[in-house]
Amino acid sequence: MINAENIVEINEKFNNMEPREILQQVLADIPGIVVSFSGAEDVALVVMAWKLHKDIKVFTLDTGRLHVETYRFIDQVRQKYDLDLAFLYPDTTAIQRLTSDKGLFSFYQDGHEECCSIRKTEPLRRQLAGVDAWITGQRKDQSPTRTDVPVAQLDTVFAAPGKTLLKFNPFANWRSKDVWDYIRMFDLPYNPLHDQGFVSIGCQPCTRPIGPNQHEREGRWWWEEATAKECGLHRVNIIE
Ligand code: ADX
Ligand code: SF4
Repeated sequence: MINAENIVEINEKFNNMEPREILQQVLADIPGIVVSFSGAEDVALVVMAWKLHKDIKVFTLDTGRLHVETYRFIDQVRQKYDLDLAFLYPDTTAIQRLTSDKGLFSFYQDGHEECCSIRKTEPLRRQLAGVDAWITGQRKDQSPTRTDVPVAQLDTVFAAPGKTLLKFNPFANWRSKDVWDYIRMFDLPYNPLHDQGFVSIGCQPCTRPIGPNQHEREGRWWWEEATAKECGLHRVNIIE
């Protein structure tokens, strides 16, 4: 049984396992676990989990700022697999205050933290308060901040007071190519932005396509330092 006490050993064991086997064990062991779906190549994670467990719970943080292609794509996936998918929204008072004070593009002047914290981190915290564990599509090869991402970990950032929260990154040891091999092998639908030079995809104003030999997350918050490129969802990567 996976729990907070044995998570280090579980991580060592999972490190040598394929994502599908990891998911199989995690889904069997932790009822109510949720999968996070950004509407990008993590479609591979969502479909892999869905194949194992048709009523898997999936959520997307709808920041209000995603590309229209991403909205269309997420809904396409929701319909195709008849997914139990929840869209999570920012607190209206907080977002009203931010946009009234600073307009719609304050992140270009004072950094992405404030906007991400309202549109992503706070809704995620609300969602995770009610579960024991969550699953993400993070990989070690995605960014300089992710080279040490474990397959299984304690999420100390989002654990509600007095509770433990587990976080699983079954693709941690997969490379981008492995994910795309999976998408192509099973002919999964994918976000059309990937055919337009986008690799890592987040909110529209904070994402741009990358050029030859650029690292995939150079297209995210490109006006900021590479080491600051976590939006808060995976802050545990920076503090540990
Ligand atoms: S981010 O933190 O910089 O936005 P990234 O786009 O690399 O993350 O995605 C890594 C993983 O974080 C995704 O596979 C997904 O599990 C989760 N994630 C990122 N953005 C969202 C979102 N808008 N909604 C739900 N999950 C997300
Ligand atoms: Fe706001 Fe950009 Fe963060 Fe999206 S990625 S929540 S638009 S700062």
